[in-house]
Amino acid sequence: MVAILGYSREQIFTAVKAMYTAVASAPSADFHFPVGRTAAETLGYPRERLDALPRTQLDSFAGVGCPFNAGAVRPGDITLDIGAGAGNDAVIAGEIVGPDGHVVALDLTPAMARKLHETLADAGIANVSTLQASAERLPLADGSIDSITSNGVLNLVPDKRRAVAEMFRVLRPDGRLQIADVVIDRPVSVDCHTDPRLWVECVVGATVEEDFLDMFRDAGFQDLRTVRTLDYFAHSPSAQTREVAASFGARSVEVGMRRGAHAPGPLLQWLRRSDPRRIAASIWRRGFLGVAGLGLALLTCYGTLIGTGLLAMAGVRLALNQNIWAGAIALFAVLTATAVAPGIRLHHHYGPTALATAGAAIVCFALFVHYVFVVELSGFAALAAAVWWDIRLRRWAEARVLGLGPTTS
Ligand SMILES: C[S@@+](CC[C@H](N)C(=O)[O-])C[C@H]1O[C@@H](n2cnc3c(N)ncnc32)[C@H](O)[C@@H]1O
Repeated sequence: MVAILGYSREQIFTAVKAMYTAVASAPSADFHFPVGRTAAETLGYPRERLDALPRTQLDSFAGVGCPFNAGAVRPGDITLDIGAGAGNDAVIAGEIVGPDGHVVALDLTPAMARKLHETLADAGIANVSTLQASAERLPLADGSIDSITSNGVLNLVPDKRRAVAEMFRVLRPDGRLQIADVVIDRPVSVDCHTDPRLWVECVVGATVEEDFLDMFRDAGFQDLRTVRTLDYFAHSPSAQTREVAASFGARSVEVGMRRGAHAPGPLLQWLRRSDPRRIAASIWRRGFLGVAGLGLALLTCYGTLIGTGLLAMAGVRLALNQNIWAGAIALFAVLTATAVAPGIRLHHHYGPTALATAGAAIVCFALFVHYVFVVELSGFAALAAAVWWDIRLRRWAEARVLGLGPTTS
């Protein structure tokens, strides 16, 4: 899950409300994301559905996909639209559930909830109601909902795991969820607190795709299907947003799933989250594989030395195989240098990779050609400097793309 990079919850809520009040009240203004009928058409909403929607409501459409492609909403359902905005999806869901069903359209931003309330009254739509609340605390009873739809919201929510747990709680067992949201390839790691607008630009708050799906699995959802992936930001009118999105691999996905009978217990959830493959993938995406490689190299080298020394003092003699020991240290040193190299793609500097390669070579020289403690240590020092330099450069590159400037990283 993505960290909240320096933002307080209040900053996020204030920025979200300000942004979506503007989308509700002045939809023709300039936004960094596509808005209105054109946006909905681009995302593949059927024209006849859009033709049936009130014009002013459609003007404030701000979805990132068409969650109905996952087909979770069915006739007769009690449906919840989380982050309904101006309520276009809620009204479409209202048509699907029919007169025997009902749609609750929930949104954090009062201006959005008000706008939808007025639209519903003007159009005489009786099977959709509005609710102003946060996705993190749904004012609904356990198991009271048959299906949930959500479009472009979770990336804006500070506590995503809590919001997903709330979805699980209010859905009945076997209830269905369809969601369109923004996902990314690698998380943002610079502190963005100087510019809360970055959060509402839908990339900084987004989650890495596998983590996004795991978040639902961890909460007890099953049969997850990604029905479509879209290059949503390609349609952004802002060149900077397009650049930020491309840099982090931001895109939108439409996912369908089903609520399992029970939420996994805390121990099972913890075990799932502690899966070494998940931890390794997370270290890799955050650009910390070099740190991990260096840590393992140092631990194998000096940790083993200290450990065997302590055991010897306690009278336990271990026969270390010098070749295996040296081989493991060399392997981790080379891994460290290899992990630094991909940084070139992000910051276009060859210095850290050259330094890391030199460091790994010095360590290998000391291990396999001529051992001198100071030489070995200087190899590790070069590796450490290279890892630190690479991380700094990655952060600066990230800050530059986000328009923060190098000093804020
Ligand atoms: C990108 S817009 C999408 C609106 C709507 N789903 C659509 O497709 O037009 C995101 C909406 O989520 C709402 N939102 C953001 N954070 C929320 C939260 N924590 N709880 C409920 N709604 C939230 C915003 O007010 C905004 O209306």
